[in-house]
Amino acid sequence: MPSPIVIAIDGTSASGKSTNAKLVARALGYIYVDTGAMYRTLAWQCLRQRVAVTDAKAVAALCRKWKTQLVCVDGEVRLLVDGYFPQKEIRTAETSAAVPQVAAVPKVRDWMKQSQRACVKFGNLVMEGRDIGSNVFPETEFKFYLDASLDERSRRRAAEGVRENLAVRDRRDSERAAAPLMVPLGAKVINNSTLTAEQTSGLILAEIRRRLGDAG
Ligand code: DC
Repeated sequence: MPSPIVIAIDGTSASGKSTNAKLVARALGYIYVDTGAMYRTLAWQCLRQRVAVTDAKAVAALCRKWKTQLVCVDGEVRLLVDGYFPQKEIRTAETSAAVPQVAAVPKVRDWMKQSQRACVKFGNLVMEGRDIGSNVFPETEFKFYLDASLDERSRRRAAEGVRENLAVRDRRDSERAAAPLMVPLGAKVINNSTLTAEQTSGLILAEIRRRLGDAG
């Protein structure tokens, strides 16, 4: 059996990764994986268990022993904690502020990489994050990096009702030592400041189909 195809979509915060990854996954019939949600879930668990996210050792210890399960529901992978899917809880301002610290812990990144690679058991994937093409699936031929101007990204977040300093979060994600946010080697870079989601996902799909056609 051929090994599953992984489409890696990385990029800055609010660059349209989720919207486009979902559109691409739906168009291709692939499974959608939001790896940011997995980091958010651990940050939420730290807050819930009163583990200081500034204490890397304590965060790593919690990550070693938490009871999780990866499931696939309606074409999307979910990370359950103690059988629970914290869908709303991981989107609060408190969790958003805590997640870059959790994501900077090397042992956490090892755990996440292993779990994310295990998602191929569900089939072909569209996986979005910050280090998918550079670190989690460096071997994939399908790498995309999305970006947009800071003004445009801040406007998008505000339209979702979220006020957040994206520049600070991007800097933290780019400057950490472990698997920082970067343009993966061989990635197609798309700046979508002036593009609609349909146009952006159209560009991604055209590139995937071209490469799949070339391979076939
Ligand atoms: O995409 P998001 O905003 O839900 O991501 C939440 C945080 O998790 C973000 O600060 C960066 C981090 N993250 C990461 O370090 N690596 C990933 N593959 C995905 C997210």
